Amino acid sequence: MKPGLVYGDFHVLTSAQIEQIESWAKENGITDVYFSVKPEDIPYMEYWMNQNPTFLLYKDSQKTPENTLELSEDPDLREGNFEALPVRLRGILIERGLYREECAHRLLKPKRYAHVESMTDLAVTLAKIHGADLNKTRIAGLFHDCTKALPDEKNLTLMRLCAPEYLSRSKEVYHQYTGPFYLKFVLGYTDKEVLEAIRHHTDGDDEGLLSKILYLADKLDPSRGYDVTDMIDLAKKDLDAAVKKERELQLEYLRKKGIIA
Ligand SMILES: [Fe+2]
Ligand SMILES: [Fe+2]
Repeated sequence: MKPGLVYGDFHVLTSAQIEQIESWAKENGITDVYFSVKPEDIPYMEYWMNQNPTFLLYKDSQKTPENTLELSEDPDLREGNFEALPVRLRGILIERGLYREECAHRLLKPKRYAHVESMTDLAVTLAKIHGADLNKTRIAGLFHDCTKALPDEKNLTLMRLCAPEYLSRSKEVYHQYTGPFYLKFVLGYTDKEVLEAIRHHTDGDDEGLLSKILYLADKLDPSRGYDVTDMIDLAKKDLDAAVKKERELQLEYLRKKGIIA
């Protein structure tokens, strides 16, 4: 048995870094690769340990092996670019909140991200009052418009894949269908409640608690610039009444604009 130690300033390792570790181990005849990982980062390492049984956690009491490899965090990751990670690991980062804001930010134009931040704050306020899961609420808020900045062409391709029956609807609502699809299959985040909430956020036609919160927070986002104080107060007091009222206002607006009869 020949041990080697991987250590350094990283939370999570990319596929390319794992390949680097594997060839380092091979070149040096290392049979057991130990990783020195902070306790909070163990879930990211567990993913790789499941893939490779020769990867082991290093305990402080053990003697430091002669062979060591120092690594640091992939700089692209710090900026929210998850492309170098396997899809499942991307989902774990989103779930645990590592570089999550950066990832959401990277997908959107600056103005849209300002809306995302402000509506997420409102969604979390409502979630605290009405007892929804705060982490899921944050994820739903941060990623609810995640496909909004994709080129029309790409949104159309995704629409054909995930919701061809709604292709005849306005392009404005495509992202409520393509968003959860992208979050699940590209970003590896699979929580059903969050995906459902995003799937209904422009229509407000879902009964789930998180769906109602996301719908209202999106519509009543203070950064949109309308006076929505009364509606926000109502949403804090009575979520169902606020959804009903907001949907009526939405239908009235669409009728006035001639979008629906
Ligand atoms: Fe939206
Ligand atoms: Fe939005």
